Amino acid sequence: MKSSLFITFILFFTTVSAVKEYLFKKCSQSGFCHRNRHFAQAVESDPEYQSPYSIDVSSLSFADDSITGIVKKVHGLVDVDFPFKISVIEGNFRFQLDEKLNSDVVDTVKHVNKQRYNETETFAFKQNVAYHPLTGDQLEDKLVLKYGDDHQVELEFYPIRFSFLYQNKVQLTVNDKQFLNLEHRRKEREGSTSELLSQETSFDMFQDSFADSSKDTLPLGPESMAIDFNFINFTHVYGIPEHADSLLLKHTRSKDKEPYRLYNVDIFEYDLDSRLAMYGSIPFLLGIKSEVTVGVYWINSADTYIDIEYSSSNTLSHWMSENGLLDFIIIIEPTPYDANSQYGKISGNAALPALFSLGYHQCRWNYNDQKDVLEVHKKFDTYKIPYDTIWLDIEYTDEKKYFTWKKEAFPNPGKMMQKLDQTGRNLVVIIDPHLKDGYSVSEEFITKKLVMKDNSNQAFYGHCWPGKSVWIDTTNPDATPAWAGHFAWKSPFLAQAANVHIWNDMNEPSVFSGPETVAPKDNIHFNNWEHRSVHNLYGMSYHQATYNAMKARLKHSNRQRPFVLTRSYFTGSQRTAAMWTGDNMSKWSYLQASIPMVLTHNIVNMPFSGADVGGFFGDPSSELLTRWYQTGLFYPFFRGHAHIDSPRREPWVPGEPYTSIIRDAIKLRYVLLPVFYTGFYHASETGRPVMKPMFYDALDDTNTYKIDDQFMVGDSGILAKPITEKGGNVSSIYIPQGQIYYDFFNGEISSQVFTSGYVERPVELTDIPMLLKGGSIIPLKTRYRRSSKLMKNDPYTLVIALDENGQAKGDLYIDDGESFSYQNGEKSYIGFQAVSEGISASVSVSEEFSRQIESVTVEKIVIVGVKGEISAVIIEQEGKKWNGKVSEKDSVTTIKNPKVKINSDWEIKFEYKQGVDHDEL
Ligand code: GLC
Repeated sequence: MKSSLFITFILFFTTVSAVKEYLFKKCSQSGFCHRNRHFAQAVESDPEYQSPYSIDVSSLSFADDSITGIVKKVHGLVDVDFPFKISVIEGNFRFQLDEKLNSDVVDTVKHVNKQRYNETETFAFKQNVAYHPLTGDQLEDKLVLKYGDDHQVELEFYPIRFSFLYQNKVQLTVNDKQFLNLEHRRKEREGSTSELLSQETSFDMFQDSFADSSKDTLPLGPESMAIDFNFINFTHVYGIPEHADSLLLKHTRSKDKEPYRLYNVDIFEYDLDSRLAMYGSIPFLLGIKSEVTVGVYWINSADTYIDIEYSSSNTLSHWMSENGLLDFIIIIEPTPYDANSQYGKISGNAALPALFSLGYHQCRWNYNDQKDVLEVHKKFDTYKIPYDTIWLDIEYTDEKKYFTWKKEAFPNPGKMMQKLDQTGRNLVVIIDPHLKDGYSVSEEFITKKLVMKDNSNQAFYGHCWPGKSVWIDTTNPDATPAWAGHFAWKSPFLAQAANVHIWNDMNEPSVFSGPETVAPKDNIHFNNWEHRSVHNLYGMSYHQATYNAMKARLKHSNRQRPFVLTRSYFTGSQRTAAMWTGDNMSKWSYLQASIPMVLTHNIVNMPFSGADVGGFFGDPSSELLTRWYQTGLFYPFFRGHAHIDSPRREPWVPGEPYTSIIRDAIKLRYVLLPVFYTGFYHASETGRPVMKPMFYDALDDTNTYKIDDQFMVGDSGILAKPITEKGGNVSSIYIPQGQIYYDFFNGEISSQVFTSGYVERPVELTDIPMLLKGGSIIPLKTRYRRSSKLMKNDPYTLVIALDENGQAKGDLYIDDGESFSYQNGEKSYIGFQAVSEGISASVSVSEEFSRQIESVTVEKIVIVGVKGEISAVIIEQEGKKWNGKVSEKDSVTTIKNPKVKINSDWEIKFEYKQGVDHDEL
C-alpha cells in the first residue's frame, strides 16, 4: 500500500478501485519478455528455422555424479560457449548452464558483478542437498542417461532436445519447440543488429523504454535465458504462485493474453483472475495426471514470465528469465505427494510451526495504544472467543523507526506483553526492511555497508512508510548478525519477552518511489550483484535474517520456535516463514479467490498461508465477515486484518447473531487444532499439503482437477466447502468417484452417508459445510479455552468414520508445541486403527515426553458406520482391563470417557448385540 492521505482517500471513496495497471509492465513492454515471445512465435512459424545452438560433443566430460560440456551458439559473428552441467540432485535430474564470459565484452562495465548470477540456490535450497550417481551412454547423436530405477533422459545434440522418460514412457520434453534463447553478452550498445537471428528483435535490448523504469541503465545489455517444457499427455498444470487466479493455470500463449509473471511487487488493490505478478514467487510448476506427476523447478531469482499453452493432449510452458543461469530440475513421480516430497528434499520442508501460531490471530492497522490492545484482548474473554495472538502494525513505532516504540501510546510494552502472556497470548510486531533515514539503526547499517546500493555504488535512498529510507541488504551474510543484534534477548525493545514474534512486510522490497513499486533493477547488492539478479529472493533473504535473529533470541527462553510472517517470499521461504496474500478487498469475490490462492501455495510446499479474513480494504457486511471466518478457519494461517481506514470489525462488532456464529467458527478452528498440527507435522516431514486440493486423493477422477472451492484438511479425511456467496443457502459438494463421506457439518458427525457425485443440501448462515471421509479417525479437542496454550492438557475426542469394510485409520502428532526438543525425540506419534473387532492406538513416544503428557486422556470416542450394534466395550491399557460405557443414537455410537491415556498403547474391543456375525463383515 502506498502512503499519503490523498491515496487513502481515493481508495475509500472510489468503489471501483482496481490495480494501477500502468505501474506494471506488460510482457510487450518488458524488453526480455517481448523479445522471447517474439522469438518463440517466429521460430514456430518458420519451418526452415535452424537453431544456432548445439552440444559440442568433443566437450563432454563424464564424472561419477555429473556430466559437463558446452552448448555452442554459432551464428554470423556470434560464437559463444555456454558451459553446462548435468547432475542428479536428491534423485531428480538437474541441468545448469552458464555463459563463458568474454572479457572484451564486459570489462568496461563498472560496479556490477559481470558473472551471470549463480547464487540463487544458496538461498533457495536447504543445506546439504545430496547429488547422486548418474549412469548412461553416449550415442552418436545423443546421451542416454539413467537415474534411479524408473527415470531416464535422452539429450539430443542437434537440435538440442531433452526427453524425460518415466517407466519407459516420455512424460516431458524440453526444447522440443526450439524456444531455447540464450542472449549472450555483447559489445555494441547501439543498434546491435548484426548479431541477431532473423527470428530475433532488438526491442529494448540496451534501454528500458517503460515509463516507470526507464532509468534502468541495463549495464550488461540483453542477457535473458528462455526454453520450453512440454508436458506430454498432460492437460492440467498448477503452481507458480503468486497470482490472484484459479487453481488450474490458464492458457496464456496468445497475443491478447499476458503470461504468468514472477516478479515480487507491491501490488496494492490487486485484481482477480489475473496473471500479473504479486508479492511472492515460487518457480515450481506441476503437471498432474492419474498415473504421473511432473514438476519443473526453475532455479532463477530474476524477473520471469511463463506462458502456458494447452493443446488437446499436451501442455506447453515457455519460461523466460531476464538474466542469471539457465538452471532447472525435473521431478517425475507417481503422485503429487511424491513430487512435493522430492521438491522438499531440495528446497526444504515447511518448519513445524509453534502451536500458538495455528490459533486465531487478531490484527488491524492499527491497535492504537497499549490500552486499546489490552481492551481488545479482554473482550475476547468477555465474549468467550479463543484467540492466540494480537498484532501491532506500523503505527506502534516512533515515526516508523523500527525497533522503537511510540512512547506516549506504549509507555510499557513489557507489561503489556506480560499481561498477554498470563493467558497464553502472544504479540506480533511489524518490522519492515526499509530503515528511516537519519536514525541510529539506518546509520549503523550505512556505516557497516550493509545497505542496498544504487547504480553508482552509493547507499540507495528511496521512499516508503517512514519517508526517505535505506534498505538493509540481507543478501550480505554480515547483515544477519547485525540484524540479530536488534532482536537480542537483552535489548530493551522486546523486553525479554518470549511471547513476541515478528511480521515482515514490504519486503519485495516495496519502494514507493521505485519502478513498478519496487527497487530499481540496477541497484547493487553484496558481491556487486545487480538487484535484477536477486530481486525475487530478496524478500526471503530478509525474512530468513529475521528468523535467524529470532531463533538466536529465543534460545534464552523455553519457547524457542520463532514465528515470522512475510509478504514476499521465494522457493525456500517455507523453511522459516508463513505468508499471506497481501492487500485483498472486503468483497465476496476476494473471499472466493482466497481458496485457490491458498491451495496453490500448498501445492508448492508453502502450506503456512492465508488471506486477510474480512478483506484488507473496505468494510465487509456482517454476512461477508461471518462467511469469511467460516472459510478462514481452514486457512493454515488464520488472521483477521483490516486497513487503517476501515471501521473496526473484531468478532463482537457486528453483534448478534453474527458474533455467535463467528465465535463458533473460531472455536471450530481450536477444536481442529490437533488435526492442523498433525497436518503441519506431515508437511514438515514430507512436504504434504495442509489445505489440500481434491485431486490429490482422486487422481483417477478428472472431475476433481478443476475444483478449487472445496478442499481437504491435510490427510485427516475432512472435506470442507465453505459458503462464499452472498445469500448462499445451498451447499453443493462434489464427492469423488468411489469415495464415501459422512455428514460432518459444523464439525458434528452424523451417520448420513454420501457417495460419488454432487451432494446438495440447504444451509443457513450458521452452517459450515464439512464432510468426513469414510476410513478416517480424527483427534479433536472440544473444550473452550482462552488460548491454545491453555488447552495443553485437555482430553481428546476421537471421531471415527468407518469405510465400507468397517475400517478406519488416523493419527495424531504431539510435542510441546514451542521448543525444538522434538528434534531430540521429545514427541509422540500415535497411529489409530479401527476394525470391526475394535479400536487400537499405537503410541511411539520418548520417556521424557511421555511423562509430560501423562495426564492427557481420551474423553470420548464417536463412531459412525458401525454395522450392527455394539453392546459393550472392553478397554485395555498397560496390562489393565475395564469395561467402558457405550451408547447409540441415530446410528452414531459413542464411547463415553474410556479413560485411556494418550501416552501408551491401548485397545478397545467391541461386543455386538447378538444376531450379527462380524467375521462376515
Ligand atoms: C501493507 C500490508 C498491510 C499493512 C500495511 C501497513 O499494505 O500489506 O497488511 O497493514 O502495509 O503496514
